[in-house]
Amino acid sequence: MKEQKIVVLPGDGIGKEVTTWGKKVLETFSGKNGIRFTFDEALIGHTAIEATGNPLPDETLQKLKASDAVLFGAVGHPKYDNDPSLKVRPEQGLLKMRKELGLYANLRPIRLFDELIHASSIKPEILKGADILFFRELTGDVYFGEPRERRDNGNVAVDTMIYSKMEVRRIAKRAFEAARTRSKKLTSVDKANVLESSRLWREVVQEMAKDYADVEVEHMFIDTAAMKLIKDPRSFDVVLTGNLFGDILTDEASQIAGSMGMLASASLGDQTGLYEPIHGSAYDISGKGVANPLASILSVALMLDISFGLKAESAKVIQAVEQTLKEGFRTRDIADATTATDKIVGTDAMGEKIIKKL
Ligand SMILES: NC(=O)c1ccc[n+]([C@@H]2O[C@H](COP(=O)([O-])OP(=O)(O)OC[C@H]3O[C@@H](n4cnc5c(N)ncnc54)[C@H](O)[C@@H]3O)[C@@H](O)[C@H]2O)c1
Repeated sequence: MKEQKIVVLPGDGIGKEVTTWGKKVLETFSGKNGIRFTFDEALIGHTAIEATGNPLPDETLQKLKASDAVLFGAVGHPKYDNDPSLKVRPEQGLLKMRKELGLYANLRPIRLFDELIHASSIKPEILKGADILFFRELTGDVYFGEPRERRDNGNVAVDTMIYSKMEVRRIAKRAFEAARTRSKKLTSVDKANVLESSRLWREVVQEMAKDYADVEVEHMFIDTAAMKLIKDPRSFDVVLTGNLFGDILTDEASQIAGSMGMLASASLGDQTGLYEPIHGSAYDISGKGVANPLASILSVALMLDISFGLKAESAKVIQAVEQTLKEGFRTRDIADATTATDKIVGTDAMGEKIIKKL
């Protein structure tokens, strides 16, 4: 039996509530198919700052580097959101972790479950059949570029948007390869009419397109992409973007799926993969038992497929989610006026329903 080490990083706020269920889903597959999952937990974010003064303690980093996959919740606390002057911050832990693990590719499948078509604020006839796979670059761009500083006695602020050809090439390669397995259409998003880093981005994608003659490549400016995503989401299939544009576009796209609580993501590099919901720590609902655990559970579906090659098991998790939604059960965030009150369930009841099916 092959042992696979999973590090669980609950983080802050609802992170703990939702990763509990992601972990339970993994446990249902442990000991089958020749794979046994072992679990270890570590600190990150505000919780880690409170305990150690460091948003990504060395002990956590060591555990992460020795793991086969990471199940992450979320980081963030209102204390920091309301005081930008605080120097040690939860999100530093997240950015450092991505950098240290070399997680340059963020995959975000935007899958609309038919049962939730009315939970979206977009008209059903525009949404039906939308299925988009985002590739967001994760370790470059304005999030990491130097210099980043205040000048002129604090009256001027500078951030640096920067990309190297190598950084664009490695994420583009993953997107091209994925496009080949889907509808063979790739939309690369940039702002090449204004930004030099975007011109480099487009140049690299155009060069690579020659090696992927079977993939139809479309270049789109970020402003047009933001508009078209709502107007005609079905016109997208695989979308390739930089870090900043991808951050904004994927949150916008979450509305296609009805709620932040439904969307999973995978962050990949050359080794350990990290799997997490796209939502944050949601302190507005933390501790109330109402957080939707499905994004964390769907992150586990991605982990089973990508990190462990367990495609059938991954499909089973997605089917369990689909079935539970078909039965009418909803957490508060995905309920609507037509949901019967006895079908509105909390985090644990929703998690139990999935586990029972698995
Ligand atoms: N990857 C991360 O760790 C990450 C991502 C985004 C935001 N954050 C941090 O999280 C904190 C809160 O940020 P925010 O409010 O902008 O974003 P958020 O994603 O935490 O919440 C946005 C809204 O969606 C709701 N929501 C999110 N997840 C849900 C779930 N699973 N079930 C039901 N409802 C859900 C919340 O209640 C809230 O109304 C901030 O400190 C922010 O920095 C962290």
